[in-house]
Amino acid sequence: MVKICCIGAGYVGGPTMAVIALKCPSIEVAVVDISVSRITAWNGDHLPIYEPGLDEVVKQCRGKNLFFSTDVEKHVSEADIIFVSVNTPTKTRGLGAGKAADLTYWESAARMIADVSKSDKIVVEKSTVPVKTAEAIERILTHNSKGINYQILSNPEFLAEGTAIQDLLSPDRVLIGGRETTDGQKAIDALKSVYAHWVPGERIICTNLWSAELSKLAANAFLAQRISSVNAMSALCEATGANVSQVSHAVGKDTRIGPKFLNASVGFGGSCFQKDILNLVYICECHGLSEVANYWKQVIKVNDYQKNRFVNRVVSSMFNTVSGKKIAILGFAFKKDTGDTRETPAIDVCKGLLGDKAHLSIYDPQVTEDQIQRDLSMNKFDWDHPIHLQPTSPTSMKQVRVVWDAYEAAKDTHGLCILTEWDEFKTLDYKRVFDNMQKPAFVFDGRNIVDVEKLREIGFIVYSIGKPLDPWLKDTPAVA
Ligand code: NAI
Repeated sequence: MVKICCIGAGYVGGPTMAVIALKCPSIEVAVVDISVSRITAWNGDHLPIYEPGLDEVVKQCRGKNLFFSTDVEKHVSEADIIFVSVNTPTKTRGLGAGKAADLTYWESAARMIADVSKSDKIVVEKSTVPVKTAEAIERILTHNSKGINYQILSNPEFLAEGTAIQDLLSPDRVLIGGRETTDGQKAIDALKSVYAHWVPGERIICTNLWSAELSKLAANAFLAQRISSVNAMSALCEATGANVSQVSHAVGKDTRIGPKFLNASVGFGGSCFQKDILNLVYICECHGLSEVANYWKQVIKVNDYQKNRFVNRVVSSMFNTVSGKKIAILGFAFKKDTGDTRETPAIDVCKGLLGDKAHLSIYDPQVTEDQIQRDLSMNKFDWDHPIHLQPTSPTSMKQVRVVWDAYEAAKDTHGLCILTEWDEFKTLDYKRVFDNMQKPAFVFDGRNIVDVEKLREIGFIVYSIGKPLDPWLKDTPAVA
């Protein structure tokens, strides 16, 4: 029986391995992690991450051919194929701080593999890594090889949180990069045969190692660039009276452009886009490609601009101050259908409002109070380290209240900011919300999900990103 071990039981390792176990009953899959609490949760009733469809897949395979364990060394030594799906945070200190990927966790995983292995291994990069990481990993492994043959493959993951199971069951493509040698080809074929259990052959793309590594960074950069492009347009729409939804619909109809990822919003978030672009920027700079680096940097700058612009819009609409005012925050996760808050724009928006001394009542259907308090007090980039290495939960902020109901969050507030596009926010009884708010009552829709006309009829002053402005807002321009 082929044995697979995945190091890192996170948002990528957990769902990816669960789907491999589901689709390949003849393969034994072990997912290992240094975080005891994560593994305990994977083995319990409440999985450590929320992802539609994940529960069912895990319950179907767990204990049969899918195992979660903290016995990292045992499973690594027994495995034929080892996926490494550990954190690759942005460095906060030293060379490349604020941009380069921190490969500490990757290196320690590689050294551990070298220490405990007794048979030949295929080591698969699942984490998103800088180009040429495979070479570094290869060096660590071969310098400690004790006659063992290691083949390194790059197999970046393209799943999107919120639709991870669907993406894994029916991927647009699976990308496998390997050495262009006979042994490299054999390793590629071995991994290909795993995916071939359910992915059509024409969707499995094989390349050299460096193309595979760079393709993942490039894909995330392109996706984020689309969002920043439409967000840049949204500012222009507000200034000119155009409607960003109409513009993106018209633009997206062009088959050369396509309709996806063209929704204007308060900004992109998630653990990957910013981190991977910063990493790309750093690699460009290291190769002396400053024009290319600056081009990609701008994608992040526009994203920051969009978040600032939103905060300024809230403050300027409310008579230029939110000091002591109560504001409801609906949605804290970086997108709907996930509880993940890493780099969520809600963090920057909340911090901006708190900086102006607002009082916030926050509701998200999938994010805990502890997580929200941690996020609002954590330093930039701390969030991307394993949980047990993150700062412990600080004392709760007095100005922040976390509640379990949207109506409760909105009660007695002056304004309401929608920061995640959860479906339930589309169907709230906004008349009831309005009746329980202070007047004038504002809605700032950071995801363009509410029916603006309907809300205006109820009596709200509504700001919807990139849409023609309410007369009230026209008189209070907000420049970021
Ligand atoms: P995560 O933080 O959810 O999971 C990483 C896990 O690795 C943690 O549970 C941590 O405790 C564990 N870990 C760290 N060092 C370890 C070691 N030496 N031994 C055993 N376990 C160790 O991270 P996530 O989101 O799963 O991301 C992993 C990688 O995949 C990152 O490089 C990320 O950029 C990439 N990626 C993430 C996607 C996402 O949507 N979250 C999508 C595609 C790629």
